[in-house]
Amino acid sequence: MTTRPPTERTTARQPKTVVISGGTDGMGRATALDRLRRGDTVVALGSNEVKGRALVEDADRLAAAGRLRFLQADLSSMAEVERVVADIAHRHKVVDALVLCANRPSPRRRETVDGLEYTFALYYLSRYLLGDRLRPLLNASAAPVIINVAGVGNTAGEIRWDDLQLRRRYSMVRAQLQAGRANDLLGVAFAERAAGNVSYVMYHPGFTRSGDVSHLNPALRTTIRLLARVAARPVETSIRPIVELIDSPPRAALTAIDRGRPVHPSLKTLDAGDASRLARLTEELIARHAPETPPHGQ
Ligand SMILES: NC(=O)c1ccc[n+]([C@@H]2O[C@H](COP(=O)([O-])OP(=O)(O)OC[C@H]3O[C@@H](n4cnc5c(N)ncnc54)[C@H](OP(=O)(O)O)[C@@H]3O)[C@@H](O)[C@H]2O)c1
Repeated sequence: MTTRPPTERTTARQPKTVVISGGTDGMGRATALDRLRRGDTVVALGSNEVKGRALVEDADRLAAAGRLRFLQADLSSMAEVERVVADIAHRHKVVDALVLCANRPSPRRRETVDGLEYTFALYYLSRYLLGDRLRPLLNASAAPVIINVAGVGNTAGEIRWDDLQLRRRYSMVRAQLQAGRANDLLGVAFAERAAGNVSYVMYHPGFTRSGDVSHLNPALRTTIRLLARVAARPVETSIRPIVELIDSPPRAALTAIDRGRPVHPSLKTLDAGDASRLARLTEELIARHAPETPPHGQ
């Protein structure tokens, strides 16, 4: 795991610009409102317009609507991610923090407009693209940080190297675990490239009383809600580290935190060889899906 020599990170309270994927619900939404209360500018990404409007109304009640922008986008689509990035780059010169929360478990295997498995595209690939494409704006910040909210520290599941799109033996849990492990490797690969001073933090919040379960079957929905009532942490508790990390990013290029505990870099799910292998496969996949450049003269 890469660490950079200790340097001073800006911790003085200055208003920041924070981009949150999945900023309309759950932990992303709570982080957005918390940062707005602290005077930051927030760009919240989500697919649901009704949730987006509700967030804007809440920001209005905080007299912060002028500092919030809701960008509606289906982040499972690569073109949509690129559109959002272009929009942010058009309006902002600097991004101080990128918080990655967008996810939605899918009970059945389905494919995105790019022909990719949905969970892979939304939970992993959109995070890869947002981090990569927003890197120049992050590098323009004095103390930039990416916080990838997923499941680091968990060793369950695996990357199906021969079937990344899970065409065989799909299950919702298998897809979630594969994308979770892919996000672990994403953090390692991003920090290894170490271009600029972005601090990458992988954060596992633990079972939290958030998570939109409206698309799950009624039995599973009820079970999760009952379990959450007795065993899950309040959203406000789970987001506390996220909010603090935005103010004081670690000096290390990569930090992994599993429910308050540091994760050792030797954990098998953080293997550097696997990380560069997945990064290479991801770049190939992105290149295959990039819009074709018309031949000269057309
Ligand atoms: N909750 C837990 O117990 C728990 C435990 C461990 C790890 N985590 C991880 O923590 C992260 C946040 O979880 P959460 O519980 O806060 O989730 P959540 O409440 O379900 O919120 C998910 C967010 O993702 C957005 N989203 C879903 N599909 C999208 C799409 N196609 N395009 C754009 N945005 C989309 C949703 O917005 P729209 O509805 O507007 O699209 C929402 O803002 C996830 O990565 C999750 O895996 C959660």
